[in-house]
Amino acid sequence: MDVPERQPLLSVKGVERSFDVGGQKLRVLKGINLTLEPNRLIMLKGRSGSGKTTLMNLMGGLDRPTEGEIFFQGKPFHQWNDDKRTEVRRKDIGFIFQAYALMPLLSAYENVELSLRMAKKAA
Ligand SMILES: Nc1ncnc2c1ncn2[C@@H]1O[C@H](COP(=O)(O)OP(=O)(O)OP(=O)(O)O)[C@@H](O)[C@H]1O
Ligand SMILES: [Mg+2]
Repeated sequence: MDVPERQPLLSVKGVERSFDVGGQKLRVLKGINLTLEPNRLIMLKGRSGSGKTTLMNLMGGLDRPTEGEIFFQGKPFHQWNDDKRTEVRRKDIGFIFQAYALMPLLSAYENVELSLRMAKKAA
């Protein structure tokens, strides 16, 4: 029997992220390496300002690294443009943001329905 090849859900290789702040380069992530296997609950902790949100934005395809590689289910997020990463986010990634990011005028049901409509799925 063929055993399907197990690939990590996500791998982060030598990732750096810097921001230009007032003409200075602020190096927030300085070489992050990690591998996430499927069906695991992972928690990321660190003091405020250590770069958790910066890393989450990269792993979720909202942002691109300054250096390094990010593969989500083998897809090279670091090379893909925003439109291509958005396609993956729409289908395969769910975010629950600290600030919810819900449409305030819509009900809970309608908020879910809106995302499904954008993904062209029946509610
Ligand atoms: N777009 C940006 N432009 C400039 N600096 C940024 C940007 N995003 C994040 N930073 C800086 O990067 C550092 C890390 O921020 P980040 O929000 O990733 O930290 P965090 O670990 O999520 O903190 P918290 O626990 O408070 O949420 C901070 O110094 C922040 O000011
Ligand atoms: Mg944060």
